[in-house]
Amino acid sequence: MNEVEPEDVIKPGAVITFVVSSTGDGDAPDNCDTFFTRLKRKAKKEKGEGAIGVQYAVLGLGDQNYSAFMAVPRQFSQTMENLGAKCFAKRGECDDTLGLYEQVDAWTSTFWSHLEVARGNSHKLREGETIWLPKTTEVVANRVAPGPDSEGAYTVSSPYMATIHKREVLTNLKSDRRVLHMEFDLGSSGISYKPGDSIGIVPQNDAELVRAIVDRLGLDQAAIFTLNWKKGDTNEHATHPLPHIHTPCTVKSVFTNYIDITGCPRKSLLRVLAEHCGNAEEKDALLHLSSRGGRAEYETQIRAQSPTLLTLLNNYPSCCPPLAELLDALSPLAPRLYSITCAPEVAPTTPSVAFSVVRFQVPSGEHRLGVATNWLDEISVDDKCEHKVPVYIKPSLKFGLPEDSSAPLVMIGPGTGVAPFRGFLQSRRAKAQKGGRLSEAMLFFGCRKADEDFLYEADWKSFTADGSLTKLVCAFSRETAEKVYVQHKIEEHATEVARLISEGAYVMVCGDGAHMAKDVHAALVRVVAQAGVCGVSDVKAAEALLADFTKSGRYVRDIWS
Ligand code: 2AM
Repeated sequence: MNEVEPEDVIKPGAVITFVVSSTGDGDAPDNCDTFFTRLKRKAKKEKGEGAIGVQYAVLGLGDQNYSAFMAVPRQFSQTMENLGAKCFAKRGECDDTLGLYEQVDAWTSTFWSHLEVARGNSHKLREGETIWLPKTTEVVANRVAPGPDSEGAYTVSSPYMATIHKREVLTNLKSDRRVLHMEFDLGSSGISYKPGDSIGIVPQNDAELVRAIVDRLGLDQAAIFTLNWKKGDTNEHATHPLPHIHTPCTVKSVFTNYIDITGCPRKSLLRVLAEHCGNAEEKDALLHLSSRGGRAEYETQIRAQSPTLLTLLNNYPSCCPPLAELLDALSPLAPRLYSITCAPEVAPTTPSVAFSVVRFQVPSGEHRLGVATNWLDEISVDDKCEHKVPVYIKPSLKFGLPEDSSAPLVMIGPGTGVAPFRGFLQSRRAKAQKGGRLSEAMLFFGCRKADEDFLYEADWKSFTADGSLTKLVCAFSRETAEKVYVQHKIEEHATEVARLISEGAYVMVCGDGAHMAKDVHAALVRVVAQAGVCGVSDVKAAEALLADFTKSGRYVRDIWS
């Protein structure tokens, strides 16, 4: 959606399918944000007439664990209805907790026939081929062109090439978690940020994994290619099927910068691989895994094992897909967002992030490594600053210090979720140093053990000592027989939390959205209901009050899974 304008695609006779998810707390994904804003504007301006003669469908992707499940897909449907468009296939509402692949498969099994009816003809798929070029061809070495762009901005496609100012391990060596604090140097770029914003990082795949995959496919890392599409779709608005890949490009660059070679393989990838197996048994096995009948095997062999592309290719030795088809079947390598852990008053040109290095073992015994966190852990940090990290700032619209500085704060952030609150407190301290008055601020932090992963411990203590933080409450989950989490501490301190909320506190939650944010929400509901905050007398009314606070920005969550 970031490649087209609503005016270009919403014209009489058009047949459009939106595939869209909600992110965070019901926000549109970055790459459809502008499109969606313009679509809504069009709907407001052209009331019921902007899309007459247009047929549309929406495939929604989401996760029931989030309170704003399907918020954005439903808004897409509503906006298209408001524009006078006609729906040609019932909206898919696919829930990751029930298995996204299964649900999308079920939806698409009837979608294609609805699409054919809507278009009045059969759809043609395009086929791609790789054209190999002489090695003297000039190539774009990287996915991103260093910014700024023509408007002077640093964005995901024109990031700032930052040097690493500092990298530090925040966890004790005896912990099996490894959390890093990393500061980026933005030099004289003039890039600004505020507490609550995130840094986007455009990562690279592991060099050794890339080499092994390229070898296994019988390709040459230095070979240069371009992509050509054989059968053209007649739709004048059809864009290049691999718009994110700039060619000509080397084989090494495409595997390093453009595509996801470690994410859990999709069924569509397994189908493409099946088509290119020399061995009939291997082909059947892959087809079975990607079929509805192979659901159980897909769960145990693919979802639970999350094989990398290399593991898959090694498990099916006769499989050798052509490069163009493989690139088309793999997902793009996505940028990663990390909350900023400091304030511009303290670190105007060196924003920092905190993240845990993702490594885990799958049932087969193999280890899987998170792409970006391991790349950042291993990238060499030397005085010459030769290694640069492409970064950009993703401003936060909702998550930040409240404008009303007299309002108290209740901050809840276990693990690396505590990161943005360090920035908030640095800002408060800077304000107090200039003579400003501070409101009350309470922080709930959670980690495993005080002597293992108490992130930024010294900072919280000094914020408490100088009054930037009024109260720090910690939940150590692995020091006692029973787990103690932040939500237990919120209930333990119910009287104080309820008092702060009654006095107009902003409640901010950051961290894991799948479990923690839900449990914290339930605890807040109980605290509000039991104390009768704002005249609330039961759980239902407490839910409604928190929903109102969410709308007005007094209850904000920056959550991820
Ligand atoms: P655990 O790993 O011991 O279960 C930061 O990751 C902290 O959040 C850890 O102490 C972790 O505890 C804890 N945590 C895990 N699940 C949680 C949940 N549902 N709610 C709140 N905290 C949780």
